[in-house]
Amino acid sequence: MNMQTSGPLTALEDPQLSARRIFSLIAPEMAEVEAEFERQAQSNIQVIAYISDYLRASGGKRVRPALTILSNYAVGGEGARHNSIRMATVMEFLHTATLVHDDIIDNAETRRNRPSVNSRFGNQTAVLMGDWLYMSAFETSLAERSLPILDILTAATRKMTEGELLQLTLLGHTDITEKEYLFILQHKTAYLFSACCEIGAIMGGADAVGQAALRDYGMNLGTAFQLVDDLLDFTASDETLGKPAGVDLLEGKLTLPLIYLLEGDPEARSAVETVMREGSYRKTTRESLLEQVERTGALDRARERASHYAETARDALNILPSSKYTDALHSIPSYIIERDR
Ligand code: IPE
Ligand code: IPE
Ligand code: MG
Ligand code: MG
Repeated sequence: MNMQTSGPLTALEDPQLSARRIFSLIAPEMAEVEAEFERQAQSNIQVIAYISDYLRASGGKRVRPALTILSNYAVGGEGARHNSIRMATVMEFLHTATLVHDDIIDNAETRRNRPSVNSRFGNQTAVLMGDWLYMSAFETSLAERSLPILDILTAATRKMTEGELLQLTLLGHTDITEKEYLFILQHKTAYLFSACCEIGAIMGGADAVGQAALRDYGMNLGTAFQLVDDLLDFTASDETLGKPAGVDLLEGKLTLPLIYLLEGDPEARSAVETVMREGSYRKTTRESLLEQVERTGALDRARERASHYAETARDALNILPSSKYTDALHSIPSYIIERDR
């Protein structure tokens, strides 16, 4: 199907197909991002070059750089210009750094269907590699000579760390409120999405209104994105996700479906606590928990929350001039909601 002539996608479209259509619109730019990632990942220090390439080659959905490029085009910018590609790559670098550190924190052994950096190379190497990725991203971003961009990047990175730290302090708690949960989720994930879109807008020469619209779009999209990540942890398999499923609870993370379950059924608390305490589904299986969140409507309620944020993201685009790029941005929330990985 030709993306250039097609309108916005519907929520019913196959997520794989809609992803292909969105990405095909900016395929040359995304190929440039891959090449730029390879360049930014180079180092005279062999271990750094090796691990950077290990990370690059493991793929990933590349949602964040795509958002930067689409946001740039959506405000009338030239997304294919080298500095646009370079900043889009910086956003993927920052994301990669958060994943490397997150997998140490979460003790995750697999990422993108491969051993995580911590499990393959050890925690010490993974900490330092994450630091290197962060600092390389910042160094590259300095080429823009833009304090507003640097402001957004540093704030997003600080907030991400705050979210991860706050989450750590609440591990094992079963009395987390929806408000606390959302605060963490927005800090650890949504601000980076927002930064990707806002920086794309700035680079595209957006006015204040366009910049704010894309900032809001990214914030709501990022919120929906992490909500869905947490839902998939319940419903998907390791193979599809490329990372361990069902681990949030084992790690002591209470996510929205369980927050809703416990609201309506306080009896379930002891089962949830047991899984957290033992770090295993021996007494209460993953299947039985899934059955409970499905039967009580807790899972659907959490899905509705994700859809609400997706909808709010789409609404934020209303003030932008219509174009095939705005259409693509319009389609991303549905893709994110419907995705299976
Ligand atoms: C994983 O992000 C971390 C979260 C914020 C949930 P992605 O799902 O975008 O990971 P990759 O880059 O596609 O592997
Ligand atoms: C995303 O949270 C945290 C980051 C900001 C990297 P998760 O811990 O749920 O991410 P996954 O599931 O490991 O990708
Ligand atoms: Mg994790
Ligand atoms: Mg997760």
